[in-house]
Amino acid sequence: MESLCLVVPKMRAEPIRRKLMEKGILRKELQIRSDKKNVYFPISQRIDLGLPIETADFKESEEQVTDYRVLVDIPDELRPLLPSSYDTLGTIAVVKMADEVAPFAKQIGQAIIATQKSIKTVCQDAGVIDQFRTRNVKVVAGEKTTETLHREYGMVFKIDVAKAFFSPRLATERDIVANQVKPGEVVVDMFSGVGPFAIMIAKTRQPKVVYAIDVNPDAISLMKENLALNKVASVTPILGDARAEIAGLEKADRIIMNLPHQASDFISDAIRALKPSGVVHYYEILEDSKLGERLDMIANLARGESRVMKELARRKVKSYSPTMNFYGLDLQFV
Ligand SMILES: C[S@@+](CC[C@H](N)C(=O)[O-])C[C@H]1O[C@@H](n2cnc3c(N)ncnc32)[C@H](O)[C@@H]1O
Repeated sequence: MESLCLVVPKMRAEPIRRKLMEKGILRKELQIRSDKKNVYFPISQRIDLGLPIETADFKESEEQVTDYRVLVDIPDELRPLLPSSYDTLGTIAVVKMADEVAPFAKQIGQAIIATQKSIKTVCQDAGVIDQFRTRNVKVVAGEKTTETLHREYGMVFKIDVAKAFFSPRLATERDIVANQVKPGEVVVDMFSGVGPFAIMIAKTRQPKVVYAIDVNPDAISLMKENLALNKVASVTPILGDARAEIAGLEKADRIIMNLPHQASDFISDAIRALKPSGVVHYYEILEDSKLGERLDMIANLARGESRVMKELARRKVKSYSPTMNFYGLDLQFV
């Protein structure tokens, strides 16, 4: 459909879009267009902003610009360095930024909020900082909070992206593991965070109990809230070190070990805590060429505990670098 439109150089697109919204003259029922140089905003009346006004054809659609990169107010030479993806946790987007574009974090955040209806806060992620695997995050746009409610597979998780680890990218993996649990099993989640594996298992598989250990007090207190939110009773949260805590628990049918940089340090403790033929879901970030070596090491440790390791399944859960993957290994110890 034909409409008047304001022709705006890409670098100025986001502040102008906000101005048009404030004045109520941006035609939201039409789709914003862009080409290499300009963004074309369909408008309901003329406005003097020192910018050209033309008449052009626009698609009538509920579809909006969804790629935030179209709207970011940033020098053109830096556009290729804009992050192409980010994690979405509830109403929060967590974005890693290259050093060159980090000074434009606020503009990146504003453009994400403008293009994604569900996002209310954007945090810049400067990496994992401590033993708790928490992230060094800073709110750069939107509501000043690091707390949100994240929904996955019909469950809801209270998360604080600054205080405890949570990865939405593991949702499918949690489903794969939960589907293997049989009714009545004793399950231990050695590094449970805010409880996503434990709660999914408890909610969907009727285990006898899931012991969910974490050393981070904030993770345990969020987990307790998540148990209540999801009306789950068969999870026992335990604050403490996994090695010390697992030694005092009843023997397990299944143990989850999601501590990808250090899990190998804890594998003997896990094997000792397993019933005969119990299964460990083991996660590690590995060079592809080192996977065989790691499996041999675990098999040797098992022999030291008079057990035999059988590899039931292996999954490349996510890619970490061109030669490294986050591996998920289902290992049985007979
Ligand atoms: C990668 S996160 C995994 C969290 C959870 N499994 C998930 O999928 O969201 C690892 C967790 O292990 C916890 N952790 C680190 N060292 C630990 C230890 N020695 N004993 C118990 N928990 C530990 C951290 O606090 C963190 O919450």
